[in-house]
Amino acid sequence: MKPCMKEIEKRKILSEVALGNIPPDTVIANGILFNVFTGEFIKKQSIWIKDGRIAYVGPDHDPQKDGKTQVIDADGMALLPGLIEGHTHLNRSGIEEFVRHVIPGGVTTVIMETIDFGLIAGREGMEYLVKGLEEQPIRFYYTIAPLCGLTPSEEINAPTNEELLPLLKNPQCLGIGEIYWGNIFLEGQQGERVRELASIALEMGKLVEGHTAGASGRKLQAYTDFGVSSCHEPITDEEVLERLRLGYWVMIREGSIRKELPGVAGIFKKKIDFRRLILSTDGVDPEEFLEEGYLDASLRSALKLGVPPQLAYQMVTINVAEHFGLDHLIGSLSPGKMADLLIIPSPEDFSPCLVMCDGKIIFRDGKSLAEPKKVFFPDHMFHTVTIPDDIFSSIKGGALAEPAVALAKAGKVRAMELVSRLVTKESIIDLEKPEESKDVIMILALDRLGSGKAFMGFLKGFGLERGAYGTTMSWDSPDMIVVGCDTQSMEAVIGRLKEIGGGGVYAIGKEIVAEFPAPLCGVASLKPMEIVGEEVKKLEASLRKNGVKWGKPALTVDTLTSPAIPHLRITHKGYVRLKDRKVLPVEA
Ligand SMILES: [Fe+2]
Repeated sequence: MKPCMKEIEKRKILSEVALGNIPPDTVIANGILFNVFTGEFIKKQSIWIKDGRIAYVGPDHDPQKDGKTQVIDADGMALLPGLIEGHTHLNRSGIEEFVRHVIPGGVTTVIMETIDFGLIAGREGMEYLVKGLEEQPIRFYYTIAPLCGLTPSEEINAPTNEELLPLLKNPQCLGIGEIYWGNIFLEGQQGERVRELASIALEMGKLVEGHTAGASGRKLQAYTDFGVSSCHEPITDEEVLERLRLGYWVMIREGSIRKELPGVAGIFKKKIDFRRLILSTDGVDPEEFLEEGYLDASLRSALKLGVPPQLAYQMVTINVAEHFGLDHLIGSLSPGKMADLLIIPSPEDFSPCLVMCDGKIIFRDGKSLAEPKKVFFPDHMFHTVTIPDDIFSSIKGGALAEPAVALAKAGKVRAMELVSRLVTKESIIDLEKPEESKDVIMILALDRLGSGKAFMGFLKGFGLERGAYGTTMSWDSPDMIVVGCDTQSMEAVIGRLKEIGGGGVYAIGKEIVAEFPAPLCGVASLKPMEIVGEEVKKLEASLRKNGVKWGKPALTVDTLTSPAIPHLRITHKGYVRLKDRKVLPVEA
């Protein structure tokens, strides 16, 4: 195949710029350049840029200029490649707000997961998300969510592998998104679909992104045999080392779900090769985004922990680019690469003064100079909470409430018990014994896509003392989850979630105490991040004020449906024991 003439012309022009025969568009002079390949910070360096690409990097020379050449004096500050976020989610925000807020922190490339809209709106949801990522002032790539639920009933909107092919073939698609390790071993059609999807991606030369929480030894290796090449779940330095030795690209997660840097810090003291280490957020919630920052905040945490600056910067530039096969374009400041770069005061002080993407300055001296492109989602993606009206009578002392209430009177029940803010265990509780029934409330899983199917069980250890909280932002499931102390509050929550198109609602009796409307697929808000952050903060503060003991109560409830976290989970069909995916009733 012949290379495209346009590309050859572009390269010729770049080489003429390097030779001094054509003036560059932009010259950045007198900087301390970070060389990602050698780990050096080199003083008195210049970068010459033409047509959005780097033509020359090296000692300060006075290049040929014309009236249009823009000269930026870096004044002895440090020059870095733009940051690359290797694994993230929108976390309740829209695309425009995400773009607006990541730019000041120096992120110029993002690899986005597509699960959040795919779960509810299937292939169409992923397609609109992918379309929205195009032509933004920063670079986006994506991975396709395997959409694998606890049981097949959560995969109701999952496209077939054939239907996913166009999305997979798109050059912006880098592979299949995080496949939880347990899901690859699932029996029957559920597992077959995921394993086939992984193989299709590998045959197309794309990646399979992993999720190996808690796996080790032969199980980890058996999972790796399916071609998985990255993981963002290690929580100790031993887990990091085990995965590095198996050839993984290990993403140390430092975001809203968990902050792993302190737990894995021992890895940085080892005398090993770090080129496969990556730092990533896995998503940052709006309130945290505004208060602390994004990947820039993770980077500052790494520097504060004593990670040498050169290693910290390699973890968010060249290492990520190499993992995704993008190092011919991004991840370094070297000739022929895209002009994605940052100026920071010094190698030790990561606070970008200038951010450039594709040769355009998109942030300078505290001001954003680029507007996100407006994103379109069709109207029906804002009306995804479909619940039959008679569901309320079922809850209020009716069919749904009955088994739980009857069993409560009878004594022993099966319950989900929170042993940490995310991990649960299966507990058999005698509700007649006061010490056992303490801190036990109802939990309702409700198919919010219209079937009206629901399961009522018990939740222990959440701490809620009055009212009910409900969410449509459940992980890996299209179910609505409502936890509550009484059915009247639960009914109010369901009614309000239906009215606002989803999100999170807390009610006491008939009164709505706090809410976070997330009408886009019931998982995201299009309001400014400042408002979203305030709404979520207020909602979580109300829950804590009313007894919830966990730091991020909304996240705790959102994750109760996920096969990513052990041990007992919930669907509208019943509890699900993660280790064997057995659906269990409330009867003990
Ligand atoms: Fe993730």
